[in-house]
Amino acid sequence: NQPQISTDVNEAAQVLLSGGIIGLPTETVYGLAACALNQSAVSKVFAVKERPTSHPLIVHLSPEEDFTKWGVFTSDALRLARAFWPGPLTLLVERTKIVPDWVTGGRDTVALRVPSHPVAIALVVAPSANKFGKVSPTTAQHVLDDLGVSVDLILDGGSCEVGVESTIVECLGDSLVLLRPGAISAEQIQDAVQAQLTTEQGVSRAPGMLVSHYTPDADVVLVDSIEEAQRYKTKLESEGGKVAIISHRHVDEYAKKLYDELRDADNNACSSVIAVMPQDSGLGTAIRDRLRKAASR
Ligand code: TXA
Ligand code: MG
Repeated sequence: NQPQISTDVNEAAQVLLSGGIIGLPTETVYGLAACALNQSAVSKVFAVKERPTSHPLIVHLSPEEDFTKWGVFTSDALRLARAFWPGPLTLLVERTKIVPDWVTGGRDTVALRVPSHPVAIALVVAPSANKFGKVSPTTAQHVLDDLGVSVDLILDGGSCEVGVESTIVECLGDSLVLLRPGAISAEQIQDAVQAQLTTEQGVSRAPGMLVSHYTPDADVVLVDSIEEAQRYKTKLESEGGKVAIISHRHVDEYAKKLYDELRDADNNACSSVIAVMPQDSGLGTAIRDRLRKAASR
């Protein structure tokens, strides 16, 4: 009794329109999609993810949609939308009246994103299609492994191009705050708006930016070089551990494979994963963020 895995976008859209929830590919990670205007469908998303309702959802819009219907865009927010949509950027803006409370958890802000994936479907909420706090899915099989029969259909779009979740920038009043690093880097954002971006420190205002997140069952150990990783692996193995190493020279490849390799470590019953931290710039910053969260519990 498995959900259907399909490559037919029209079929997926039909399931959404009739109140179903589906695994939806995007360029970042797979989302668990429901029609944003359908309260009971959206509540299924929270239930299936086991996500507290205080963690609001990103509304995904199609490139044709007039995004200003959904949010109040400051001039900086408009510049960012024009520069990076469709793409892996989420903008947190003041919401308009048509945004339902069940999407924002009653907050007066809404997270909006126009994904660039060819099969992205308009007007859906789509948190990552994993259980709350666990590793995000980057293939249809990952969605099936995590959520199985709880979803009505999984739209298979192959493996995700980017591999880590979108950059989230809060654009309220005059301030621009980076809430989650992603494929669109802080430098790119600053270049587009010609303004300083601050980084949220300490207890974040965005729920879900928890310190512990994206955690596999294996212990995640962070090191700075492959030599250090090898030494540590030898040590852990001598103590009877089963160890995997994650290391890639290029950050694009690192991001694309990261979640699959964390999942593999669990599938292979590894006790530890040793990850070599990439450089702290561009996509490397996002990978370091996810690795740190995977390592803390
Ligand atoms: O790349 C992505 O953004 C993926 C794909 C599927 O689009 N989606 C995703 O959604 O990562 P999710 O729900 O796993 O992460 C969205 C984050 C959550 O931490 C949530 O709490 C925060 O955005 N968020 C959403 N709406 C918010 C709001 N109104 N105020 C503060 N935080 C918000
Ligand atoms: Mg998530």
